[in-house]
This record gives sequence, structure tokens and C-alpha cells, in this order.
Amino acid sequence: MRIVPVHLGSRSYSIKIAPGLLRRLGPECAVLKFGRRCAVITDTNVARVHGAIARRSLIRAGFEPVLTAVRAGEKAKDLKTAQDCYDRLAAHRLERGSFIVALGGGVAGDLAGFVAATYLRGIPFVQVPTTLLAQVDSSVGGKTGVNLRAGKNLVGAFYQPRLVLCDLDTLQTLPDREFRAGLAEVIKYGIIRDAAFFARLERDLDGILRRRRTALAPVIARCCEIKAEVVARDEKEGGLRSILNFGHTIGHAIENSAGYGTFLHGEAISIGQIAAARLSHAVSGLPEAELRRIVDLFRRAGLPVTISLNSRQRKKVLDAMRLDKKARDGEIKFVLARRIGRVEWGRAVPEQSIMEVLRR
Ligand SMILES: NC(=O)c1ccc[n+]([C@@H]2O[C@H](COP(=O)([O-])OP(=O)(O)OC[C@H]3O[C@@H](n4cnc5c(N)ncnc54)[C@H](O)[C@@H]3O)[C@@H](O)[C@H]2O)c1
Ligand SMILES: [Zn+2]
Repeated sequence: MRIVPVHLGSRSYSIKIAPGLLRRLGPECAVLKFGRRCAVITDTNVARVHGAIARRSLIRAGFEPVLTAVRAGEKAKDLKTAQDCYDRLAAHRLERGSFIVALGGGVAGDLAGFVAATYLRGIPFVQVPTTLLAQVDSSVGGKTGVNLRAGKNLVGAFYQPRLVLCDLDTLQTLPDREFRAGLAEVIKYGIIRDAAFFARLERDLDGILRRRRTALAPVIARCCEIKAEVVARDEKEGGLRSILNFGHTIGHAIENSAGYGTFLHGEAISIGQIAAARLSHAVSGLPEAELRRIVDLFRRAGLPVTISLNSRQRKKVLDAMRLDKKARDGEIKFVLARRIGRVEWGRAVPEQSIMEVLRR
């Protein structure tokens, strides 16, 4: 088993990475000295394949779990669903010492984390992320929240879990498209922070795509380490944390202007990272050969690397970028790579250059 410590003073916790961890959920929670009653918040897809194992493990360890399966998909991340969860917790008489288990992808994690942060002004929670994206990204860092009609993640709280269990076996049931989308975030960590890790991905990609546990374990652990390190240095996003947004400025704009459901987040930021890499080549000195390696790796991972936009669509993407919170005073700020493994942030880029990379 690999253990990645997250250093946040009195709120420090561990991320454990191994096969078979879901079966150990009960004993792992017992060590943390929680009360007996608990709730597993999951979605209907995950409940079907992994819910029973989680429940059984908790019961065997002496807990009294109630399982709440919300609808699968982004729409469950809203206040109405959070309200349903609160009602379930109250009906099951969860109290201060009780705890919540978030079992699922980023949607279940963000929702359950938000419910845990707010129910009785905060009860402990444990993350059991079951998508690649959730294991390497959303379960690390303490951001929880739900969407409003006005936009994504507009209501939320910074709230750290007490433990994160990444069970590599749960990834085996993940649909292929979701798995590849998660890889876009994995590749991102190499670009922003670790050239040797990027090279490892180039070398081990086949095993990773086959979801070999021996290939996945070190990769997921390194991603968690990088995110944990960045978050520990800048928990509330003053500066450094923004490097995690590499490829996201253009990616979000594509996601939003393409309309709901066209691209998965990972697919949109794959295109966004390629665009950011091209911008980096144009204005930050990213060598041509490294740009090519970046494009190749995304392509080999089966992720989209280009998007063809007519001039009206390009303008729509640019407008979406201006609305994004990363745009200020008419300037659009970017995270750009000088080399693979080294980025700069807060770099203002003229809209002209952005239009140029979107035209390619
Ligand atoms: N808190 C953060 O820091 C942070 C960071 C990145 C993303 N997010 C959020 O994460 C969400 C996206 O997360 P996601 O990509 O994991 O999506 P998701 O939670 O919707 O999961 C994707 C799909 O896979 C299914 N699924 C999950 N695990 C499965 C498994 N093991 N086997 C079979 N099917 C499975 C789900 O039911 C769903 O249909 C977004 O809401 C985003 O805002 C949060
Ligand atoms: Zn992302």
C-alpha cells in the first residue's frame, strides 16, 4: 500500500492507495474513533457495483450505516439533493460523532463533502473516490460544494476529509471514456510539476491504459503527492494553487460553450492543455520538441487534441473565457509552461494570441 500524507496542521490526513481498500473501509474507520452511526453517500451507478461491499465492511466493523444513492451525473450536485441528504442524515439520527463516507466520483465527493461540512456545522467524512479523476484530483485539496443555476461550484466550503481511500479495484468497472478523461488530469501533473513523471507516463502508458494495478499505483500516488504539496503550500488559492488550472481556462470555455454533455471535463481540458502548450511555445519559450511530446501523449491516451471551430464559435469560446473568474480587467491570465515540469502562472496573454491557437 502507498500512503501519501497531506500536511495541513491539525487537519492533516492520509491518502491510502492500494487494491482491495473498499473491503477495509470499516476497520479503517474504526481506527479513527468515529461514532457508530454513519451515512454512505454515493450515486446509483456506483451503489450498484460497489455499494454492498462498502456497507458490509462498515457493518462488520460495528458501524450502523445508511446508504444514500443520488442520481448519477452532475445534476446531483445541487442544493435540492443536498437537502435530501440532510433529511436522510437526520432521519437516521446522525450526530456530532457520526461520519459520512463519500463513495463515488467527483460528484459524490463534492456533494457528500459539502453535506459533511454543513450538517451540524460539520461532521467528519472519509473519501472513497472511484473514478480516476476523483482519485487524482477532486478527493485531494478539500474543496467541496454544489452548483447553482448561475454556475458550477458557486456554493461550497473548504473542508478536509479525515482519510482518503483510493481502491484501485474500483477503477476496473469505470467506463473507458471516463478513465481516459481522468488521464488528462494525470498528464497535467507531469506538465506542471514533474518532468520525470511525464517521462514515466510516456513509458508506462500502455500498462496504465490496461489499468494494470502495478502501473496505476505509483501514478496515482505521485499525482496525489503533487496536488497535496501544492495545496499544503497554498490551501485557499492565493497563487501557487492556480497552476492546477493549467489548460483549464480554455478547457472550461470549450466545456461551457459546447453545451452540456458534449465533452467530458477531461476531454475539454485535454484540448485546453494542448492550446495552453501552443501558447507556451509562442510566448513562454516551451521548446518545439516538448510541445510535440505533450501533443503525442494526449493523443496516445485517446484524448481529443484539436477542435475545429468556425469564427463564430471561436468568439463564443473567447467570451466564455472573459466571463471566467480567471479573467480580470479585460486581460486573460494563463498558466503557461516554460518546460515540461515547470510552469509560470498569472501570465497575461493578449486575446490575439489566444485566437491564433484556437484557429489551429
Ligand atoms: N473538489 C475538487 O477539487 C474537484 C476537482 C475536480 C473536479 N471536481 C468535480 O468533480 C466532478 C466530476 O467528477 P467525475 O469525473 O468523477 O464525475 P462523476 O462523479 O459524475 O463520475 C463519472 C461517471 O462515472 C460513474 N462512476 C463513478 N465511479 C465508477 C466506477 N468505479 N465504476 C463505474 N462507474 C463509475 C458515475 O456514476 C458517473 O456516471 C465535477 O462535478 C467537478 O466539478 C471537483
Ligand atoms: Zn480539471
